[in-house]
Amino acid sequence: MNDRELLRLAQEASTRAYAPYSNFPVGAALECEDGTVFLGCNVENAAFGECICAERTAVVKAVSEGYTKFRRIAVYGTGKNYCMPCGACRQVLSEFSPDMEVLASKEGGGYVSYPLNKLLAYSFKL
Ligand code: THU
Repeated sequence: MNDRELLRLAQEASTRAYAPYSNFPVGAALECEDGTVFLGCNVENAAFGECICAERTAVVKAVSEGYTKFRRIAVYGTGKNYCMPCGACRQVLSEFSPDMEVLASKEGGGYVSYPLNKLLAYSFKL
């Protein structure tokens, strides 16, 4: 699957976002090393601290199904800036696959691609 196809799946996931507080729907498509893709969206809550990002939704779905080795994640958002994973999501992704690739889109469909280890250098490990 190429980058555009993975971003397209992330876009599809964003249509299922529950984001009544921010009105900022986000979708993620997490590609495992064997090619399996898990989708996630942000799920907000009236208790704002309980909101979960699209990326972590996808990771939790994958890990709970026995998939822990990831190749890429595509993050779809349509803000003015590229929808880069937040610090918490970077740390959670890094737990499993520190050298994976991160794709992030913005309004108009442009996207950037970075290795996770550049977005989260010297990450915490026990
Ligand atoms: N959000 C994500 O789901 N992923 C990101 O990469 C950035 C932010 C969500 C969290 C919240 O529901 C909304 O976007 C606004 O911050």
